[in-house]
Amino acid sequence: MLPLSFVALALSASQVSVVAVAVAPPAELFSPLVQQKVLKTAQSFPSPAQYPQYTDRVEGNWIWFTPDQWTTGFFPATLYAMYERTKLCHRSNVGDASQWLGLARTWSTPEIPLETNTGVGHDVGFLSYPFMNELTVDPNNQTAVQAINAFANHLAGRFSPIVGCTRSWDSADPTDFQVIIDNMMNLEVLFASEKLTGNHTLRDIAISHADKTMVNHIRPDGGSFHVVDYNSTTDAVIRQRTSQGYADNSTWSRGEAWGLYGFANMYQHTKKSDYLQTARRIAKYFISNIPSDGVVPWDFNAPLVPSPRPADSSAAMIAANGLFLLADQEWSVRNVTGAAYYTNAAIKIISDNTKLAWAPSWQSLLSNGTVNNPQHNNLTGIVYGDYYFITAGNELVSRGLASC
Ligand SMILES: *[C@@H]1O[C@H](CO)[C@@H](O)[C@H](O)[C@H]1NC(C)=O
Ligand SMILES: *[C@@H]1O[C@H](CO)[C@@H](O)[C@H](O)[C@H]1NC(C)=O
Ligand SMILES: *[C@@H]1O[C@H](CO)[C@@H](O)[C@H](O)[C@H]1NC(C)=O
Ligand SMILES: *[C@@H]1O[C@H](CO)[C@@H](O)[C@H](O)[C@H]1NC(C)=O
Ligand SMILES: *[C@@H]1O[C@H](CO)[C@@H](O)[C@H](O)[C@H]1NC(C)=O
Ligand SMILES: *[C@@H]1O[C@H](CO)[C@@H](O)[C@H](O)[C@H]1NC(C)=O
Ligand SMILES: *[C@@H]1O[C@H](CO)[C@@H](O)[C@H](O)[C@H]1NC(C)=O
Repeated sequence: MLPLSFVALALSASQVSVVAVAVAPPAELFSPLVQQKVLKTAQSFPSPAQYPQYTDRVEGNWIWFTPDQWTTGFFPATLYAMYERTKLCHRSNVGDASQWLGLARTWSTPEIPLETNTGVGHDVGFLSYPFMNELTVDPNNQTAVQAINAFANHLAGRFSPIVGCTRSWDSADPTDFQVIIDNMMNLEVLFASEKLTGNHTLRDIAISHADKTMVNHIRPDGGSFHVVDYNSTTDAVIRQRTSQGYADNSTWSRGEAWGLYGFANMYQHTKKSDYLQTARRIAKYFISNIPSDGVVPWDFNAPLVPSPRPADSSAAMIAANGLFLLADQEWSVRNVTGAAYYTNAAIKIISDNTKLAWAPSWQSLLSNGTVNNPQHNNLTGIVYGDYYFITAGNELVSRGLASC
């Protein structure tokens, strides 16, 4: 998900040699099916534009949605990730670079009106991924520059100086100011726009949001609340609760994964040690709450009965990417042991959950994703699960820990 330039910062040969890999990355990461399936979906571009979000539960066929959804950026970003893969892999089995780039651009285009008119609230950060990717290919692409700046302004416009956060979800009562842990992921667009415009207010907003989230969403044990309701007029915390998790006091695994990635990313941008400590605490919770079968459940506190407790392979893949990013941060503070530890934990999560979820006959790469279990939407393929599966493969190659 990071722009390609960050990948270029990747680890030097010396790190590769110190990060001893205890578990081999699964071969499925570089299966020919990856490029075959992604290409097939990319070539069935509907007109008017629609985007795949998740699959049905039985045959694994994509279900398509109109563009104004929080998930719309993931398929175009997947195509940019395949383009990146052609640069990382010196083999023809990952497809043709110019074809991937052409498809990535084609699939990004119908997002353009969303920069000024969208109903996704805080999720404009996710929508901006393809444009951040585009700038690593062509830093002068003004369409992408304008989209990033507009998405960032949209998110900044949702900032409340009283609460100190950007508003995630709109609510009927405007004094009910709802912030979800997922919002940590959307802060990236503020840093991207700051870089383009020099507007440091955007960074200040991201820091304020993260500071507040660190206090009110992250529990002492490193678990997290999905939703915090603040009072927008008084700043009071009204309620800490869940929407997509099992219970108000449980830890919804995908939220935990967003938090892990989000705080590692905040440390990367600011070098504030609180963020590194928080990312470590979340990582510890995530890793130590995975049961012995290695399968990441949809909620860490959901009951084991009825069995099987639905997995969420997307949470697993997001967490693996977060752990790679955290490993980079450990490396940046010369913590070689920490870098090796998180790298190995990421590979184990990828390996165990790929074993469960690899779905050759489905249109998605992975099955066993849970979009929203309280709404009975479980055990499907998910577009962001596949996206983070592919980026995890790219991360491994760029670190010299796998070859394609
Ligand atoms: C610029 O980026 C946009 C969005 O990714 C893309 O649709 C467009 O094709 C790109 N333009 C050029 C000239 O590459
Ligand atoms: C910087 O961004 C903030 C938040 O979007 C905005 O209110 C402000 O006008 C911007 N400053 C400049 C100089 O453009
Ligand atoms: C927020 O506080 C104000 C002032 O005390 C009160 O009128 C309002 O009902 C509160 N909103 C919520 C959602 O609790
Ligand atoms: C959540 O609260 C319930 C009811 O108080 C309690 O039984 C349960 O153990 C709590 N779960 C966690 C994960 O703290
Ligand atoms: C994984 O998905 C398969 C197929 O949908 C299902 O039969 C199985 O119970 C799932 N396992 C878990 C742990 O979610
Ligand atoms: C290195 O990282 C590990 C894992 O986060 C942590 O427990 C340890 O305290 C770190 N060591 C140093 C010197 O920061
Ligand atoms: C998973 O979804 C199915 C079908 O929507 C539903 O019947 C089932 O109760 C869900 N599983 C759990 C454990 O909630």
